[in-house]
Formats: sequence, C-alpha cells, structure tokens
Amino acid sequence: MDRKSYNHVAIALHWLIAGLILFMIFLGWRLGDHDSLRLSRVNLHKSVGILILLLSFVRLAWRLMHKAPPEPPMPMWQAWAAKALHVGFYVVMIGMPLTGWLMVSTSARDIPFFIWHWPHLPVPQNHDTHELFEAMHGLIAKLIIYLMVPLHVLAALKHHFIDKDEVMEHMVPGLTPKPVLNWRWIVPVGVIALAVGFGYGLDRGIPEKGGERGEHAPPPPVSAPSESATPSAEASAAPSSSVAASSEASSAATAAPTWTVDKSASKIAFATTFSGEAINGAFSAYMANIAFDPARLDVSHVKVSIDLTSVGSGDGDRDSSLRSDSFFNVDSFPKAVFEAAKFSQSDATHFVAHGKLTLHGVTKPCDLPFTLTIKGKTAQVSGATDIDRTAFGVGTGDWAKTDAVPAKVHVAITLKASRNG
Ligand code: HEM
Ligand code: HEM
Repeated sequence: MDRKSYNHVAIALHWLIAGLILFMIFLGWRLGDHDSLRLSRVNLHKSVGILILLLSFVRLAWRLMHKAPPEPPMPMWQAWAAKALHVGFYVVMIGMPLTGWLMVSTSARDIPFFIWHWPHLPVPQNHDTHELFEAMHGLIAKLIIYLMVPLHVLAALKHHFIDKDEVMEHMVPGLTPKPVLNWRWIVPVGVIALAVGFGYGLDRGIPEKGGERGEHAPPPPVSAPSESATPSAEASAAPSSSVAASSEASSAATAAPTWTVDKSASKIAFATTFSGEAINGAFSAYMANIAFDPARLDVSHVKVSIDLTSVGSGDGDRDSSLRSDSFFNVDSFPKAVFEAAKFSQSDATHFVAHGKLTLHGVTKPCDLPFTLTIKGKTAQVSGATDIDRTAFGVGTGDWAKTDAVPAKVHVAITLKASRNG
C-alpha cells in the first residue's frame, strides 16, 4: 500500500459514496416536486439509496481489513475529533439508507432496486412508525449536510493549506508536488459539483397541476387506509411504484390519474360454505393504490393489499381459525396482494384486470372482471371472481380436503373512489 494515501479501493469508494450521498440529499429535498417525473425520481432515490447501503458495507469491511495511512503529528484532540467524525460518517453512511429502507418498509408498496425488487424489513406497517423513520431520515440528512460535511471539508482544507501536511493526499493521492491547480483536484471537486448539480437539477419533467401543495408537502393519498395503516407520505410520494418503475420513466410522463377509495362505501367480501352452511365474510383493513384511466389502460395500474388479520365472518372463533396456520397463517403471511397492470375492456363499463394474486406466500395469475362507472370525479367499481384456495395452499391438515370447505371461494369487491387532483 502507498503509505501516503489510502489504497485505491478505499479512495474510489470514498469519492463514489460521497458523490452519491450528496446527490441523494439534494435529490431528496426535491422529491416532492410535482411534475411528471416525480415517480421516477422517487424510485431512483430508493434504488440509489439501497446501492449506497451495500457500498457502505463493502467500504466498512474494506476499512476493517486495511490500515489507514499514518497520521501526521497533530494535537491529541484533533486526532480524536477526526477519528470521531470518521466513525460518525460510517454510522450515517449506513444509518441514512437504513432509515429510508425502514421508512418504505412501513408500507406494503414494492421497493424498487433498479430493475429488481428489494425486500421489506419486518416493521409495523402503520403511520406512526412511518413518521418516526421519516423524521430520522430527514434529521440525519441535515446532520450530514450542515454539520459533518462542512467540518470534514474544512478540516481537510485546513490540513492542506494551513498545516501543509499530507492529510488531503490521503484521499487525493499524487496531489503534491504543487501547483494548487493540480488536475487531481478536479476529480473530487467535479464529483461533488456534479452530485449536487444532478441531485438538485435532475429533470423535472412537465409540471403537474396541483403543484400548489408546495415543495415538500405530499400529494393526497391514493390509499384506502386500514385503521392503523394510514397512507404514508412515502406511499403518497410514489402513488404507484410499478407505473413508474425506474426503467419506465417515460410511462410516468403520462401516468393515469390516481384515486382515493372511500372505505365507508367499499367492501372486499368473500363467500364460501362450511358443511353446506353459507359463510359470508369481509376484510376491513386494506390499502388500495389505484392509478386508472379507462381511456389509457396501458398506463393504468392497481394494487390492493389486504390485511388478512382483519378478516371478519361474524364468528370470532371461526375468524381465529381463519387467521391460524390452518388457513391464512397470518403470522407468516399477513397480507394478500392483488396487483394488475394489464386491463382489457369489452364495452363502455366492462373490464377485466389481468393481474396476479399473492396469498399464503403463493403468487398466481388472477383475472378480475369488473364493471366501472364514472360520474364526475366519482367512480363505482364492482368486481367478482372465484379463487381456488387449494392452489394457494390455504387450508392445511384436514382443511386441505374440500369436503367440508370447498376449494372455490367467491370474492366480491365493491369500491367507491374519487379522483385525485
Ligand atoms: C458525504 C460526503 C463524505 C463522506 C461520507 C466522507 C467520509 C469519509 C470517511 C468515513 C473518511 C475516513 C476514511 C477512513 O478512515 O476509513 C474520510 C476521509 C477523508 N475525506 Fe471524506 N467524506 C465525504 C466527503 C469529503 C469531501 C467533500 C472531501 C473534500 C475535501 C473529503 C476529504 C477527505 C479526506 C482528505 C480524508 C482523509 C482524512 C484522513 O486520512 O485523516 N471527504 N471521508
Ligand atoms: C444515503 C442514502 C440516502 C440519502 C442521503 C437520502 C436523503 C434523503 C433526503 C434528504 C430526503 C428528504 C427529507 C426531507 O425532506 O425531510 C429523503 C426523503 C426520502 N427518502 Fe431518502 N435518502 C437515502 C436513502 C433512502 C433509501 C434507501 C430509501 C428507501 C428505500 C429512501 C426513501 C426516501 C423517501 C421515501 C423519502 C421521502 C419521504 C417523504 O415522504 O417525505 N431514501 N431522502
């Protein structure tokens, strides 16, 4: 190793991560801007954020395996301050993306990681938890930008210009011999300038109507919240992640209008029988993210996430049994998710959503025929389909047999929704 500087991997990671973090902070501050590329920006933010998390782990591991170059003589307090700040940087390099990841895990929405999906962390999916992580996320960003980076940069500049020692060269190898306008400055300064410029100036797209909400205020929710799962600012910051997955930036430009479901006039019901006796139930907690335009089915998208613990069939014991591992096994599979991005239409009011249903950890194609009538800003939807519970492994032991409870379960959805904006 070159004793005067960090090794090349450490230096490359330092400048890459520094550039990405600064880019992300400036991008983050303008995430809520209302324009046609907002959804793509949010997805880019999440993807790059997770990349930073991974890179930071690599950097930390690398640092633990390789020695830093020796420090020049300096007062004890300075050496300790530098050490504390460097350790602090490792904490925020991981803490910043981690709080972002925790924040988005409080919603059932998919977490994009470029062209892949990133898993959720097991955190309670409710409004308070979301707010907590959002506050931490915003606070760490301020700490980095107003305190840590200025201290760090000023210290580096002081070492270089006042103490005239080799600390700056630790991260900018080959800086000496002078002159001051060494090209090696241009790389780090360029990285930082580009990061800030890109983050702040990233293409805004076409301004959306309703931009009066201001820069940081979230748009109205597109979700029908359950009692606790109030739509999060995150959820509303990206009304439909799959409409505008980062690779689909262009479709975001023509995103379909989003809809807020009126839960008091909506129902997700099911019907089956037990030894011939009719059982009718419903799920009271669900989130519905709807971006739908009957005239633009190609950019429409629907995702309904049902909280299976909210099952109600008019009999407490039966509901407990439905929640248990005999049926839904809510401890392992708390949610059922129906998602569709493909629709067909047979006449003015009749449509079919060609989607997929995830239930009991199993995902299968699922078509949902529905009727839709729109009057002014209000839409009324009613759809129904039969689901084969055994195909999803719902019903174990004796319940896997279909003599007492048939395989087919009838699901009926009635939604009343109002168009946002
Ligand atoms: C968010 C942005 C940044 C982060 C997260 C960051 C993080 C770090 C960390 C953790 C170290 C300690 C390396 C180690 O011992 O493993 C370090 C060292 C260093 N950084 Fe940064 N840095 C950032 C921005 C900058 C900028 C803008 C400069 C430009 C002056 C800079 C210059 C240096 C220098 C010269 C060192 C070597 C210090 C020494 O060896 O004592 N850093 N940085
Ligand atoms: C080092 C990485 C990251 C940095 C520097 C960063 C920075 C920021 C900043 C500065 C904001 C604006 C905060 C505010 O206005 O108070 C923000 C918001 C946000 N970030 Fe990150 N972030 C990072 C990683 C992530 C990750 C990994 C995710 C999720 C996977 C994420 C999701 C979000 C979301 C959803 C918002 C909007 C919150 C809202 O609804 O207002 N961030 N981020």
